[in-house]
Amino acid sequence: MFAATAIDTSNKPAFYKELATQLKALLEGEGDSIANAANTAALIYQMVPDLNWAGFYFLASDDELVLGPFQGKPACVRIAVGKGVCGKAIELDMSMLVKDVHEFPGHIACDADSRSELVVLLRDADGAFGVLDLDSPLPGRFDKDDQAGIEKLAAIYVAASSFEGDDEG
Ligand code: SME
Repeated sequence: MFAATAIDTSNKPAFYKELATQLKALLEGEGDSIANAANTAALIYQMVPDLNWAGFYFLASDDELVLGPFQGKPACVRIAVGKGVCGKAIELDMSMLVKDVHEFPGHIACDADSRSELVVLLRDADGAFGVLDLDSPLPGRFDKDDQAGIEKLAAIYVAASSFEGDDEG
């Protein structure tokens, strides 16, 4: 059985390095993309302080994201590319670090408690195919260290998992 171990959060780069090691151990030997997304969301939600939502959206077509595994309150199921923070991340092909969601035009409020948000891309050789989204009830919760750390976790998730259309099936 995998048991997440408490990590000192005072040094963010060191925290995310240790969390990456734990995520690799958690996903080791498992390729199912849904199971791995569920466990990745659960580990992040358990270990990263001050979150009220952590989870995945996957592109179901070129213009729409659909909700994947997550932890937190029930969320919006479909997000058009270009809409909200998640849809903007896909449209602009970049991570989005929003210090105050009330200042972000078009932010989609799935949970009224959310005040800041970090969205990073899931990428393979063909480009972005989804996002990993973190919400916090604290304004300004996320910084560049969080972004770099969560981008690394997203890459570990993608590397460990098989997706429809992959050669490995
Ligand atoms: N706030 C997101 C929507 C997803 S929820 O936060 C879970 C957005 O604006 O895209």
